Amino acid sequence: MLGATSLVGSEFVASSRLGLSAAGRADPRAVGLRVERFDRLDLSDPAEVERHVRSAPEPAVVNFAARTDVDAIERERSESTTPSGPAWAVNTLAPEAVARGARKAGKFFVQLSTDFVFDGTRGPYGEDAPRSPLSTRMSWYGWTKSEGERRASGAGADLAVVRISYPYRAAFAPKLDFARWMLARHRDGTLPPLYANQQISPTWVPDVTGAVETLVLRRAPGVFHVASPELTTPWEFGLELLAHARGSAVEVERGTLVEPVPGSGVAPRPIRGGLAPGRAQRLGVRLTPWRLGIRELLSAQGRGR
Ligand SMILES: NC(=O)c1ccc[n+]([C@@H]2O[C@H](COP(=O)([O-])OP(=O)(O)OC[C@H]3O[C@@H](n4cnc5c(N)ncnc54)[C@H](OP(=O)(O)O)[C@@H]3O)[C@@H](O)[C@H]2O)c1
Repeated sequence: MLGATSLVGSEFVASSRLGLSAAGRADPRAVGLRVERFDRLDLSDPAEVERHVRSAPEPAVVNFAARTDVDAIERERSESTTPSGPAWAVNTLAPEAVARGARKAGKFFVQLSTDFVFDGTRGPYGEDAPRSPLSTRMSWYGWTKSEGERRASGAGADLAVVRISYPYRAAFAPKLDFARWMLARHRDGTLPPLYANQQISPTWVPDVTGAVETLVLRRAPGVFHVASPELTTPWEFGLELLAHARGSAVEVERGTLVEPVPGSGVAPRPIRGGLAPGRAQRLGVRLTPWRLGIRELLSAQGRGR
């Protein structure tokens, strides 16, 4: 697998029943993650990526790795017909190279992706909804991930694309997700207004492990949305999360997400976004509705009520 040290991939390493070897820059064993083997690999080198995938012993490859800092990646935006930059290399060219290696070695490939491949004007998006065809309508991060999906599909491997949205989990010291960020900022008294007009479908991270395992074991190709079947907004999610964490009602200011000023360096986010799931559930994968996910998160943190 690729991206073993990531927010989402590290949960897969910790709880998957599949035997795993990992490749990447940082050794996951250094942070206590157990993998059977680790190879150094920089995903910015497509030839090395393809070579690694062809020679790895497993019959499947799962790619959790990506450049994910949406606002930082916005500075790499390019109108060139041959874009470049770290996010293009890791989010677009690397999945294509993985897919090439997987096809040549007859391996099944699971690529993690995002609701940011849609422009967020008509969500929730179904698994067959076309990705936005225009880079100008979306974040550069979303465009690099979308092009990664498109190029990986074009490489002819047996491919499952797993799209997730606002992933959250009970614990992961290296990086806050949006739910633990809300808890931390509320505790410090620095919680800003939360968007009440943004439609989202947050992904409970353990569901991703279940989905990826199922897809690998069944070699099920296609696009799969792994997200809460019920929609919410950051404001509504925050109210519920903080009230359950404190055991009493809380007040949270309502904010409004607006389109950023072009050239301001702030990346656009889907406003009427969200993923409509379907295929993963039909394969028996559990998808946790966001209210239940909040209870699971707090219970795993030892403060469920
Ligand atoms: N976080 C979100 O809100 C979100 C939302 C929707 C979808 N997703 C998708 O879910 C997946 C996982 O995201 P995440 O947030 O869990 O990721 P993350 O925590 O930001 O971790 C990124 C991973 O990519 C690896 N990586 C980056 N550049 C690399 C390079 N040049 N060579 C080798 N490895 C490299 C990192 O390895 P090192 O430790 O070595 O740097 C790390 O394992 C991604 O496909 C992402 O697009 C995330």
